[in-house]
Amino acid sequence: MLDKSTFKSEIIIESPGRINLIGEHIDYNGGHVLPAAMDKKITLSFRKNNTNSCEILSSNFKSSFTINLEKLERSDIEWQNFILGVLFHINVLKPNSIQGFDCIIESNLPLGSGISSSAALECGIAKGVNELFNIGLTDIEIIKLSRDAEHTFVGTKCGIMDQFAVVKGKKDHLILLNCETLDYDLIEAKFSPYKVVLLNSNVSHSLATSEYNVRRDECDTALEAIQRKHPNYQFLTEIPAKVVKEFKNVLPEKIYNRALYVTQENKRTLKAVKHLKNTDLKSFGKCLYKSHHGLQHLYEVSCKELDFLVEQTKDLDYVLGSRMMGGGFGGCTINLVHEDKVDEFIENLSATYEEKYNIKLSSIITTISDGVKKI
Ligand code: GLA
Repeated sequence: MLDKSTFKSEIIIESPGRINLIGEHIDYNGGHVLPAAMDKKITLSFRKNNTNSCEILSSNFKSSFTINLEKLERSDIEWQNFILGVLFHINVLKPNSIQGFDCIIESNLPLGSGISSSAALECGIAKGVNELFNIGLTDIEIIKLSRDAEHTFVGTKCGIMDQFAVVKGKKDHLILLNCETLDYDLIEAKFSPYKVVLLNSNVSHSLATSEYNVRRDECDTALEAIQRKHPNYQFLTEIPAKVVKEFKNVLPEKIYNRALYVTQENKRTLKAVKHLKNTDLKSFGKCLYKSHHGLQHLYEVSCKELDFLVEQTKDLDYVLGSRMMGGGFGGCTINLVHEDKVDEFIENLSATYEEKYNIKLSSIITTISDGVKKI
């Protein structure tokens, strides 16, 4: 096993997790999202080893494995697939560009919390290998191949938001990303005197991957049905709510609700950005609550623990908004909390949450940081 104390790194990469202010389950529907990179991250240390294999050690899992570069195949162990998938897709794009290397991975990103430790790992590996062997991959190539790795090796048909935020994140800025064209604007994250606080429910329901893919299929079903009457629409997010509403009695209720949520959430994201630019944080916060309402009742990707956490904030005048964040079925809520009340907020919610579910809450006061980088 690699030994951290004697390991001589040639390259060290820091790869952050991401938050998403609003625009949830919108990336694979061709709309707008508002993520950012955060200061919690994965650190990856690389060195060449002049062989044709790679030794990878995860300090957190206290587990290592060896990769034969001539046989890049799926593993039965999930975390290994994030790495194998990235190497496989680099090899498709730039054949024979990777030689043997060793890598030690250390993380302070909680897993399964909806802050995308997976994209941080994928993009961190891609960036490190790119630097180590001067492969010349562009940022966009790193973003796309990392997403492809998750599709083909891990089996989650994710969108592009997480990888984009991890690679393109900029300190103190949010990314307003058009997920179809990949055009983006950096928007100053001016939340003062409010802080972005994540509350980790510390539940991670096994539905996360399977139901995620089901949602994608449901969105495709809705889009295809609407396109039969309106062939000019390419994405659900383009379809105005009033057009979706024509299908209320045509589509199965569930499918209709998914489509309605998607079009509303995309619009809400753009509206929220306007509020932020006008420093109308109150209205911005209301958009977060509405987003959660849609995720809970129309898109059905929340869970009782997350709903409880959001509900508890509604009577607190120092919280402007709260909603579940990320894929759902567990993980974190994202909250806009007055800076003077952050400690009180965390203390109170931790106590109520533990009393109700007998689960310890954890919290992260977010600092918005740069994307993946060599240090
Ligand atoms: C996960 C996926 C993203 C995105 C979010 C939901 O994090 O990886 O692509 O779809 O869920 O917004």
